[in-house]
Amino acid sequence: MAAPDGFGAAVAESVLARGGNAVDAAIATAFVLAVTYPEAGNLGGGGFMTIYHDGAPAFLDYRETAPLAATRDMFLDPAGTVVPNASVIGHRAAGVPGTVAGLWLAHQRFGRLPWPGLVAPAIALARDGFVPSPHLANRLEEERGAFAGLTNFDKYFGGVQAGVVFHQPELAATLERIARQGAHGFYRGQTADLISAEMQRAGGLITRRDLAEYRALWRDPLTADWRGFRLISAPPPSSGGFALIQLLGMKDALAGQFTGLGQNSTQYVHLVAEMEKRVFADRAEYLGDPAFVDTPVARLIDPRYIARRAAEVRPDGISPVPAVRPGLEEGRHTTHFSILDGEGNAVANTYTVNGWFGNGVVVEGAGFLLNNEMDDFSVKPGAPNLYGVVGGTANEVAPGKRMLSSMSPTILLRDGRVAMVVGTPGGSTIFTSVFQAIINIIDFGMTPQQAVAAARFHHQLLPPDEVVYSPCCALPAATITGLTERGYTPRPSDWEFGDVQIVWVDAAGSVSAGSDPRGRGEVRIR
Ligand code: DON
Repeated sequence: MAAPDGFGAAVAESVLARGGNAVDAAIATAFVLAVTYPEAGNLGGGGFMTIYHDGAPAFLDYRETAPLAATRDMFLDPAGTVVPNASVIGHRAAGVPGTVAGLWLAHQRFGRLPWPGLVAPAIALARDGFVPSPHLANRLEEERGAFAGLTNFDKYFGGVQAGVVFHQPELAATLERIARQGAHGFYRGQTADLISAEMQRAGGLITRRDLAEYRALWRDPLTADWRGFRLISAPPPSSGGFALIQLLGMKDALAGQFTGLGQNSTQYVHLVAEMEKRVFADRAEYLGDPAFVDTPVARLIDPRYIARRAAEVRPDGISPVPAVRPGLEEGRHTTHFSILDGEGNAVANTYTVNGWFGNGVVVEGAGFLLNNEMDDFSVKPGAPNLYGVVGGTANEVAPGKRMLSSMSPTILLRDGRVAMVVGTPGGSTIFTSVFQAIINIIDFGMTPQQAVAAARFHHQLLPPDEVVYSPCCALPAATITGLTERGYTPRPSDWEFGDVQIVWVDAAGSVSAGSDPRGRGEVRIR
């Protein structure tokens, strides 16, 4: 398995050793990361879980929803201008949390070990404390300024120091209620009262009714056949599965042009950027919560459609932004872990509070951070969100609606057995990072560790012709020069995107794993 920190990896390992299955391990890991990985692990956020269990795929949607009192223009001033940070910091940025409902539902269908024992390791780490790593302490230091004077973030996290035990007694008490009462320990009773009191203190919208009515949902995952693998990934309200299937499909449709190209060479980056442009044009136009908008996903992942889109890719010049239209016209923070158990069951789980540490608001008395997922809605047509992506009406705010995501927890099967479990955080860079990790292994023959450590790049149609790459590991100098000569603006991203966690089973059945060195993750192989 590969997890974003050592505490998460250790608990997954111990649950599997106690006879738990991959879903049990995922539940325990998710609760532990809510304690030890507060920038993204959570009780106050949401996510997606892609599961392969007893030879059958399943997909769990525990994405947040807009509160019932949310309105389309809630983040605009009377003149119709986007209010800076309104959807990012503070109470109104929060969607109704889905994580506890999701983990509870996963347990009811697939869990083998008793629920309280899966919450217990997190309770111990919250109550008895854990020793924060320098990586966590640095991240806190980088982010706290954004919340200063605006939320109670500092009161809860201001004292965290690397190497000094950190206790979270209120969080421990919340986890104890969840251990005893399951989802009701969060969505009803004392925890719900504390959340609604927190909202009332500062004009937030989430009510007890929002919490009581929240439901996690089983959905059919998106699937596709690709190079003899069966790919299983996230359907709407994520854009991740559709995007990944389009990218992999376009690359194959353009196989002739990719032949002989080195990884991250100028021409390779150019072709992938051309493909990404088209994916992002479709994403902005068509994708949203399927309960509210008709998302034509079957058409978007139809191999003939993908081949037609691939044919629009210009082998040499850059397609200008206005020329890249949605194709059907007739005319920052998250964490991921990947687990494979000894019986061949797998879980790919990506969950998030959106930006690192979410909206910066800790529910007083309950000890956990809330998300700022409302920013994943298109708060105004054409206005870029935290990740610079835009949308139209398909992803506008509406009461009870799920905001569009890019999260792409993905499983690849070979002959009905798990071959790969993969995913990452990174907002709009998620599916382009997952795509590169898959290609690095399958086409460039890298080990999982090499595949996740390699330089990555990203292009998303807007800003025009901009290609960003990992600050830690730049693209080759010749590629940067080559891209500049072509008319691109390559530049290091202003944040370190992606923390890919991958488990790989090669054709001979040998298991290996990779954890992105950009984060503080660890792998365990038994
Ligand atoms: O659902 C989404 O696409 C975003 N809220 C994910 C945020 C994220 O990955 C932040 N990570 N660094």
